[in-house]
Amino acid sequence: MCGIVGYIGSQEAAPILLKGLKKLEYRGYDSAGIAVHHNGIQVVKTKGRLAELEHKVQEMGGVSGFSGIGHTRWATHGAPSDINSHPHSSTNGRISVVHNGIIENYIQLKAELEEKGCRFVSETDTEVVAQLFDYYYHGDMVETLIQVIHRVRGSYALGIICSEKPDEVLAVRKDSPLLVGISKDGNYIASDIPAVLEHTKDYYLLEDNEIVVLKKDGVTILDMNKQEIKKDVYHVTWDFSAAEKGGYDHFMMKEMMEQPKAMRDSINPRITDGLVQLDEIQYTDEDIRKINRIHMIACGSAWHAGMVGKYVIEECARIPVEVDLASEFRYRNPILHPDDICIIISQSGETADTLAALREAKRQGIRVLAIVNAVGSSIARESDDVLYTWAGPEIAVATTKGYSTQVALMYLLALKFGQAKGTLSDEEVKKLVTELYTVPEKMESLLQMTKEMEELANMQAKATDVFVIGRGIDYAVALEGSLKLKEISYIHSEAYAAGELKHGTISLIEEGTPVIAIATQDSLYEKLVSNVKEVKARGAYVIALAKEGNTEIAEVADHVIYIPTVDDKFTASLDVIPLQLFSYYAAIARGCDVDMPRNLAKSVTVE
Ligand code: G6P
Repeated sequence: MCGIVGYIGSQEAAPILLKGLKKLEYRGYDSAGIAVHHNGIQVVKTKGRLAELEHKVQEMGGVSGFSGIGHTRWATHGAPSDINSHPHSSTNGRISVVHNGIIENYIQLKAELEEKGCRFVSETDTEVVAQLFDYYYHGDMVETLIQVIHRVRGSYALGIICSEKPDEVLAVRKDSPLLVGISKDGNYIASDIPAVLEHTKDYYLLEDNEIVVLKKDGVTILDMNKQEIKKDVYHVTWDFSAAEKGGYDHFMMKEMMEQPKAMRDSINPRITDGLVQLDEIQYTDEDIRKINRIHMIACGSAWHAGMVGKYVIEECARIPVEVDLASEFRYRNPILHPDDICIIISQSGETADTLAALREAKRQGIRVLAIVNAVGSSIARESDDVLYTWAGPEIAVATTKGYSTQVALMYLLALKFGQAKGTLSDEEVKKLVTELYTVPEKMESLLQMTKEMEELANMQAKATDVFVIGRGIDYAVALEGSLKLKEISYIHSEAYAAGELKHGTISLIEEGTPVIAIATQDSLYEKLVSNVKEVKARGAYVIALAKEGNTEIAEVADHVIYIPTVDDKFTASLDVIPLQLFSYYAAIARGCDVDMPRNLAKSVTVE
């Protein structure tokens, strides 16, 4: 949801800002712009992708200056257009602002400023910040920002420059991500680490309303009373190359291929003597035994990982699990028992609805355990306990390794909870752990099916509707497979619990309608075969997923994809691979932009 970057130092700012924005494009690509201190402030911005901004800057013969701010937009207030692009400036051009978030009271503020003679040019909420800042400004940037913060409501990560202060870049965040990068050659602000990882591995993580003053040779962080805050430096261990395509055509393909490694990284260090050991969290066995109910809360694919969690945790630990969409949970006055816990799942750790749901749970005194990928993100910092998924940076908008590692954590929690409650004996856990260790290798063999999945996807690329069906864990995976397909190939797709299809949706099956039937749960296999027969009888073209050896399904389905045999609890990790590959190749066949699908953004920091 919009990416921002800022720089001040000894280098030319524009190339650094443009490169940074390239790395943040996954956050939105409706428009892009930069503002650089140069005899005042020079703003260059345009509707469309970053490439268009780069082109514009090139045509101008470059933009010179050693400090500035940049923005890549996912439009909320006002259509994607040149005029609505960031940076936004005050009428006199003295102030320029980039913003990620939503200023909720912008209409009132705008009316108030208009009465005072301000002329607004855009439809955005952000322009109000630039105008308000200029209105209050009397020479002290920090003082002005404090006044502005007192007036605006909503969420914001802001980068601000003033033509009268060419040696300063100002920044602040509230409920939107922003971090500070520090180095010898200059200092940075960015929505996310990959934007500036090329320049520094050292960062300050920010709390809400901490004010950042970036100068060429130092960074000062102040609270709202202008008292300086001393921060620890957070040192990133991963390499710049982790956020590069590494020879693949798309980040999505690279990230799919990284799944086995990511699984190992998130599982192996948490196994000791064949049992699950989660040293990072403060749960005693007694705490686990006391859990009354688990509320699994997330959005998008993370919610689908939670659905897998429901099946495996209920099965292994016999603890009831409710899976909630964060956007629903936060507003539906949820009924929570003091001995309930919330498990919040989020790759980015910044999803606005998920963060709000976390706060609602905490407000009600419920213990919150977060499953997060981005270290130091808001969700990680505000939760009582955190388990990191260690997937490394994920750039493609459609998550793959992020999802897979969230599912891995679901397995570990199920086994750990089962272990603590005694619903699984140590012997049973050890057996399951041995089985779990085989999953990454089996994923590797499935990832070699690129040719087969490409051919299948090419055959189905003209489909208008695809149905994905399954039962139990297979249904949870169907949800993820179906979302992947629609988000990147724009083929309409729906996931259905296989037994539910006949209660309405089967009426949509016509001659040739593709149905992907996931039949990888041993206890439900025969039921799925019957469901396949039902849709075949209505003319569907059925692609089935079955375990190796279950060949009867080939007699009813049109095409069968076999997955290596594995315990039913872990099939989700294998089933999802052909579904991801199918979606990827369907998107390519349809000429879609795989890494940056239309209308989407990876990190949804507005509700
Ligand atoms: C967006 C992304 C999805 C992701 C969801 C939740 O919609 O496009 O891929 O699953 O947000 O994101 P999170 O970072 O909270 O896991």
